[in-house]
Amino acid sequence: MPHLSIIVAIAENWGIGKDNELLVKIPGDLKHFKEITTGHMVIMGKRTWYSLPNRPLPNRVNMVITDVPDEELEDGCLMAYSIEDAVQKADPEKESFIIGGGMIYKQFLPLADKLYLTRVHKDFNADTFFPEINFEDWELISEEKHPEAKETAGFEFTYQIWERIKSS
Ligand SMILES: NC(=O)c1ccc[n+]([C@@H]2O[C@H](COP(=O)([O-])OP(=O)(O)OC[C@H]3O[C@@H](n4cnc5c(N)ncnc54)[C@H](OP(=O)(O)O)[C@@H]3O)[C@@H](O)[C@H]2O)c1
Repeated sequence: MPHLSIIVAIAENWGIGKDNELLVKIPGDLKHFKEITTGHMVIMGKRTWYSLPNRPLPNRVNMVITDVPDEELEDGCLMAYSIEDAVQKADPEKESFIIGGGMIYKQFLPLADKLYLTRVHKDFNADTFFPEINFEDWELISEEKHPEAKETAGFEFTYQIWERIKSS
């Protein structure tokens, strides 16, 4: 079983996206995302792939999941045709990152052993949401608060890393 980690930015109301775009620009979050995921496989649904302004994400193996049999997208990404197929194609020796979107997070949450959350402390109008996390199954291993963003972005946010301690 590969080491599967989820990385996601979540609003207070659990929104993660609207109209196939991110909800908000979070100061420093793209850099944070790049630092954590560079050198690793990133696994995403086809809608998230098409939402990326620049594809593929550089210096990462990009894997895109689709239900369309044998579909191949542009050069630069590997394809998977089911969750099981993606799990099988991930490197069992390395941490791989589930990078969205809503459908993919929902199916991978039970399989993930680590969560990298950017918790945005504000509600946003959204059409895509992160599934409910039972925090009793997880242990908070690091937390970094960013109250200063209130001035520049209009909201505070917190980086958190959680490790699974049990399965529901
Ligand atoms: N806040 C964040 O950190 C964050 C991160 C990433 C994305 N997002 C947001 O999330 C939204 C997109 O999420 P979404 O839920 O609409 O789409 P998605 O999860 O990115 O992609 C959905 C697509 O993935 C494929 N798929 C899903 N489950 C599958 C399975 N079991 N087997 C085979 N293929 C499967 C299907 O592709 P086919 O239709 O080709 O079969 C499906 O249409 C956007 O608003 C985006 O900006 C937010």
